[in-house]
Amino acid sequence: MSRPGFYITTPIYYVNGEPHIGHAYTSIISDIIARFFRLAGREVKFLTGTDEHGQKVQQAAQAAQMSPSDFAAAASMKFRQLSNILNLSNDDFIRTTEPRHFLAVQALWQKLLDSGNIYLGKYQGWYSVRDEAFYYEQELTPEGLAPSGSTVEWVEEPSYFFKLSVWQDQLLDFYSRHPDFIRPTGRYKEVINFVRSGLHDLSVSRTSFDWGIPIPGDEHHVMYVWLDALTNYLTAAGYPDSSGASYQKFWPADLHVIGKDILRFHAVYWPAFLMAAELPLPQSLLVHGWWTNDGQKISKSLGNVIDPVALAEEFGEDALRYFLIRSMNVGQDGDFTRKSFISRVNTDLGDKIGNLVHRTLVFIAKNAQAQIPVIADIKVAENESLLIIARQKAQLWQAHMQNYELYKALEQVIELAEEANAYIDAQAPWKLRKTDVERMCIVLYTLLEAIHLLGVMLQPFTPKLADNILRMLAVDTATDNLAATTLVCGRALPEPEVVFIKYLT
Ligand code: MSP
Repeated sequence: MSRPGFYITTPIYYVNGEPHIGHAYTSIISDIIARFFRLAGREVKFLTGTDEHGQKVQQAAQAAQMSPSDFAAAASMKFRQLSNILNLSNDDFIRTTEPRHFLAVQALWQKLLDSGNIYLGKYQGWYSVRDEAFYYEQELTPEGLAPSGSTVEWVEEPSYFFKLSVWQDQLLDFYSRHPDFIRPTGRYKEVINFVRSGLHDLSVSRTSFDWGIPIPGDEHHVMYVWLDALTNYLTAAGYPDSSGASYQKFWPADLHVIGKDILRFHAVYWPAFLMAAELPLPQSLLVHGWWTNDGQKISKSLGNVIDPVALAEEFGEDALRYFLIRSMNVGQDGDFTRKSFISRVNTDLGDKIGNLVHRTLVFIAKNAQAQIPVIADIKVAENESLLIIARQKAQLWQAHMQNYELYKALEQVIELAEEANAYIDAQAPWKLRKTDVERMCIVLYTLLEAIHLLGVMLQPFTPKLADNILRMLAVDTATDNLAATTLVCGRALPEPEVVFIKYLT
């Protein structure tokens, strides 16, 4: 039987600079959701990639004295490597310089043109190369900067325009019918206010440089980089072959994960392009906040960029994945300090989870024949307070994951570890060993079941750590999933190993 699809995307990353913590954050959120839905039985397509055209990349290539295409290829490779280093489970990696993407973008353009949504005019206004965005005079700060703080330049050139203004009512109507389109809700309201304040037509081509996809039939123009970039989500689903199996299965996308800085492009322009092309709209946008470094905005000019590769190499990708998600709800801003990073992973992964697993397994290895304890009646364990709590937490975890509430889901995992540690202390199996071996076996079995659930719940977040935990329980990680219920009594357990080594502060 065919499984329902689930299509999730990261933004595609500009290749003008090195991968940094912000990119890693967006990708890790997406990967955790992708892994969860795979475990839940969906056929997942998880897409990431690189955004390689536009003035910003052309300028960066010039500065590096390289051709834009060589420059983009080299930089794209670094993002591909980052995916491996972070243990991302993406099924595809798109580059906007690929032929399949040219085909999709040009087909979409033709559709917009044929339906009367594009006309030729002249653009006169401000442009920020760093944001790759057009700004109106009234949007600029008193110092004459873009709202993002980037510098702007005056641009006057012939340009094709997309009739964004005519889509205002349809967009508002769509938002009101889809209150879950933008999460968290604060961002949803922000978008509605923006659209209500009135939309201007959008310039969608440029003539002052040539590093982009040519406009079909008018090759002096290249496509505005955001129209090019957003279309990547369609390209990877197989567009323009809309009758193909991939498109049928995966379009519309279930979730675009994005940062708050690129909300307007995804929540306003993208749905308008799709409506105009008579294509179905994505189900949801998950909008995350920004990371600062020791309280400061992260920027190349301040020289305080946090390198996710160096962190993953030093601490392992699981620790990095864990810290970034455990620090705040998706949507809030977070501050990165090395000290809080080390202290958080040591406390949670070391003291709470690692210690729980280790003390339980070492005790079993020494005192309970190094096997999953054999108990006469499994129902007795099922009625232990810890196992009741563990099952409740697993259910809550699942509900939070389905709502993309990763922080809340992870809270359930940590609370379960705390409950399990308290249970060992209260039940004191080392005393039961002398007084009531049958009861000791029940307690140990209960602990192993709680750890089993903990391992399953950790799978999307810290895949290697979770696999190690499940391996210690002699669980077959290749076949075990959310549906797996109980451990097999009497099965031999491997020699216990430390699952998490704490870092020196
Ligand atoms: N190329 C566009 C996206 C096109 S999608 C059709 C782009 N690229 S980007 O490389 O500049 O940024 C990609 C992602 O990184 C965005 O989601 C952005 O929010 C995120 N971050 C960049 N800096 C960040 C932080 N300091 N903190 C958290 N995320 C941030 O925009």
